[in-house]
Amino acid sequence: MENLRSQFLLNPEITFLNFGSFGACPKPVFEEYQRFQLELERDPVQFITVKGYDYIRESREALAGYIGCEADDVVYTPNPTFAINIVAKNLKLQPGDEVLSTDLEYGALDRTWAFYCAEKGAKYVRQHISLPLVSKEQFLADFWKGYSEKTKAVFISQITSTTGLIFPVKEICAEAKKRGLLTIVDGAHVPGHIPLNLNELEADIYTGACHKWMLTPKGSSFLYVKKAFQEWMDPLVVSWGYDAAYPSSSQFLDYHQFNGTRDFSAYLTIPRAIAFMEEHNWWAVAATCRKLVQSNYQRFCDLMETAPLAPITDEFFGQLASISIRTNDPIALKNKLFQEHQIEIPVMPHGDAVYLRYSINAFNDQSDLDKLYDVVAKLKSEKQLLY
Ligand SMILES: Cc1ncc(COP(=O)(O)O)c(C=O)c1O
Repeated sequence: MENLRSQFLLNPEITFLNFGSFGACPKPVFEEYQRFQLELERDPVQFITVKGYDYIRESREALAGYIGCEADDVVYTPNPTFAINIVAKNLKLQPGDEVLSTDLEYGALDRTWAFYCAEKGAKYVRQHISLPLVSKEQFLADFWKGYSEKTKAVFISQITSTTGLIFPVKEICAEAKKRGLLTIVDGAHVPGHIPLNLNELEADIYTGACHKWMLTPKGSSFLYVKKAFQEWMDPLVVSWGYDAAYPSSSQFLDYHQFNGTRDFSAYLTIPRAIAFMEEHNWWAVAATCRKLVQSNYQRFCDLMETAPLAPITDEFFGQLASISIRTNDPIALKNKLFQEHQIEIPVMPHGDAVYLRYSINAFNDQSDLDKLYDVVAKLKSEKQLLY
């Protein structure tokens, strides 16, 4: 694979192994961002009130083509948390109803569901998933143990945050449909990472971040809602689209597209980001990165005397891998890796465990993981923050 480091703006002094948190934007995409921002500043009125509508529609059309849905079934949000807040706030739950999830979800969204479920007297069920995962079947069996007569909806990550695992969401959506449950999928890590086709996945509601693996500037994400459920999605921020003076053909778009004055240039870079990925044959890049992730994973697990979190195959691993580590100070360890060794990598507590998670993208190579390995091996042998 051609190493694409020169295409990115990342500081070359840093060994960047944390693409997963906030992505990183290639130069041509960032230039497109600045081009839109400049156009905005040259005439904010024309940009925001006239041209912006066409620009956003064109961008939505490109995104919809990329993720396999209709352009009017998707709206932009600054981040997946915003998108899931729209959904959780609007979901009609009665006291006693349950939302079934796992105990491996993203912390901010656990809080979102806990908040809105508590408000409605409903229960957010964080079903325990046994790690390491043994097989898809075992995962599904574990997950459905959390189902009860009171379950109304399923909320699940397609790729998890702290554990970096791919979950069999297609099977979950199919089974949920049989049981008459609404499916809400957190695909924050999915677009640009593994192929996504919403028409085939058949989730009722789906959010994804574009500013992670789709390479766009921060603050660009989306919320997809199947037509049948759009009507009950009230806006999180009520603005001109409610009781609109000039309604469009879609209440869903009117309600969610405009949240007050803001710079939405990041949303407009999506067509350029898709073109960038096509120019560089991105699925081949992703496959090479995945190989690097997977071929190094066992030796990191051996070093930390732990087991891989799942069988090391494409079924469970993309461009993220988390290693369970023993440390008594995750923050100090993360700071040490960055400040003394210039390695940017997250050290994340989750439940009773702490995970070191590396991400690999087009600008990384084997030398980055070798450096991480050597530093971690030294810290462990010296019992510095790792044991
Ligand atoms: C699984 C998962 N969901 C959602 C998010 C979105 O986070 P935010 O809305 O804070 O950008 C992330 C971010 O890392 C994530 O890993």
